[in-house]
Amino acid sequence: LDEKIEMKHNYKPSIKLHKAGSLKTQLANLFEESLRLMAPEELDVNAAIAPCQNPTFGDYQCNNAMGLYKKLKGKAPQFNNPQSLAEAIIKNLPASEMIDSCSTIKGFINVKLSPDWIAMSVQKMLVDGVEAWAPRLPVKRAVVDFSSPNIAKEMHVGHLRSTIIGDTIARMLEFSNVEVLRRNHVGDWGTQFGMLIEFLFEKFPSGEVPSDQAIGDLETFYKASKQRFDGDPAFKEKAQQAVVSLQAGEEKYRKAWAHICEISRKGFERVYERLGVHLEEKGESFYNPYIPRVLELLDRQRLIKESEGARVIFIEGKKIPLIVVKRDGGYNYASTDLTALWYRLNEEKADWIIYVTDVGQRDHFEMFFTAAKNAGWLPAEKDKYPKVSHVGFGLVLGEDKKRFRTRSTETVKLVDLLDEAKTKCKEVLVERGKAAEWTEEELDKTAEAVGYGAVKYADLKNNRSTNYIFSFDQMLDDRGNTAVYLLYAHARICSIIRKSGKDVEELKESGKIVLAHADERVLGFHLLQFPEVVEEACTTLLPNTLCEYLYNLSEDFTRFYTNCQVVGSAEETSRLLLCEATAVVMRKCFYLLGITPVYKI
Ligand code: ARG
Repeated sequence: LDEKIEMKHNYKPSIKLHKAGSLKTQLANLFEESLRLMAPEELDVNAAIAPCQNPTFGDYQCNNAMGLYKKLKGKAPQFNNPQSLAEAIIKNLPASEMIDSCSTIKGFINVKLSPDWIAMSVQKMLVDGVEAWAPRLPVKRAVVDFSSPNIAKEMHVGHLRSTIIGDTIARMLEFSNVEVLRRNHVGDWGTQFGMLIEFLFEKFPSGEVPSDQAIGDLETFYKASKQRFDGDPAFKEKAQQAVVSLQAGEEKYRKAWAHICEISRKGFERVYERLGVHLEEKGESFYNPYIPRVLELLDRQRLIKESEGARVIFIEGKKIPLIVVKRDGGYNYASTDLTALWYRLNEEKADWIIYVTDVGQRDHFEMFFTAAKNAGWLPAEKDKYPKVSHVGFGLVLGEDKKRFRTRSTETVKLVDLLDEAKTKCKEVLVERGKAAEWTEEELDKTAEAVGYGAVKYADLKNNRSTNYIFSFDQMLDDRGNTAVYLLYAHARICSIIRKSGKDVEELKESGKIVLAHADERVLGFHLLQFPEVVEEACTTLLPNTLCEYLYNLSEDFTRFYTNCQVVGSAEETSRLLLCEATAVVMRKCFYLLGITPVYKI
């Protein structure tokens, strides 16, 4: 195996060789060159690159030899086992500064990256900015349908989860150069409005729509009208009539509806404002005029059947069909969602549509996704675009492990909850004497950043499909895997740099990163993995991947800082640059998680 392995065809390396991208992509490109030489007839062979389970073996491994050996059996007698094929793959790798050494065990190829190359790349990332390293996804435009509370009903912790998770997903996709339509699919349509409008008329017979004050708490209003609805058949009758009048577009009813929506909206806005979340409302009512046409389309494909007086779509493997027109002729959640999907695909031309709701709605999504596939709106293959994904999440539990409720009222007032997080943070800052050190505004802004950040991070750090326990004590702990700990860690790095008295901007150009100490190398390598972690979090739609990365990064930094003197050492310049690179990547993680960084503490 001294010279290059014999080729069957005259294969020319592709020009996209060494194109930038995540470490994984760059390595994959190198290995694909070699793999194509091994098996020219398998031109679309994809390099299977994964991080090494055991870092003593290397940084990454390439796992193609086993599979390829099986495929080549009989065709390539020079390889008598996967191990010899693996050795040949290594031999045929194009020259690259990236790789320090490769080794093989039983056909697995372990790769150690060159510390010089890592150092140079970290520096490049600092100079070019992290944005230049953003992952590229095969998606142009995505819809993220999140938050989506229901008008006049409570906006509960489930909606808070949807808001936090959805915002992070939107941010990660935006960072990856995807155009994101952030959609608030509010429940602003449906039969409950008949009841609400009728109740409003009853309370204010003059027909004058009262100011916000007069309706007061919409949730209480909703409950009172529901009681009236359930208790009085005559009222129920009138409420049902009101739905018809509203849907027919009668002015008086439209106005009352719009008024109720507006009050709800103001309540939702107070939550969004605190969280710094931006959404564009396209509620259920928006799609209402399109429903008949979309159902007509499905009908022409003979997908809609009659069943017990309703019009339904039967879904393979499901006992109960998807109801698209109710027995009374009205539309429902499913008719709206099918229509919204049609609109997003055809009018908005989205190629990835992502829905963020609790896992309890999984069936609903599976059903109308399947209906859309049957109608040919979506490809049958799972990984082809346009694609739909349901991002399901678990419940928020109280410390008693039951569904989360606050002490005072039976439902959680989200604004109060967020304010409480901020207040608690402020108290801690005052205890630490910051009131004397900082301006009132600094105190307030820091308390906000830490408090809201803590709520978000506590939600995001768990795998979203699990339930999580809402505990102020846990999320506001300054040790352990919390936003407080991470924000403080970041502030400490900033203060190291400040105290050095050096101008980092200047060092970026004149200085050079060298990774001589083992802990420096670990930190540098971790920094370079940022793009592939974001890419993974985007493709799996699991923001906890990014949280884990951030937490490990701060651990790697701590180890480095404990074992390597920064200020005043011979390696000061290189190490300050490493501090700066860590702070930059941490800030980008905070940004993607919707957390505002703090710079001093
Ligand atoms: N309004 C619904 C709820 O509160 C969530 C809507 C989610 N989006 C959708 N397109 N179905 O449960």
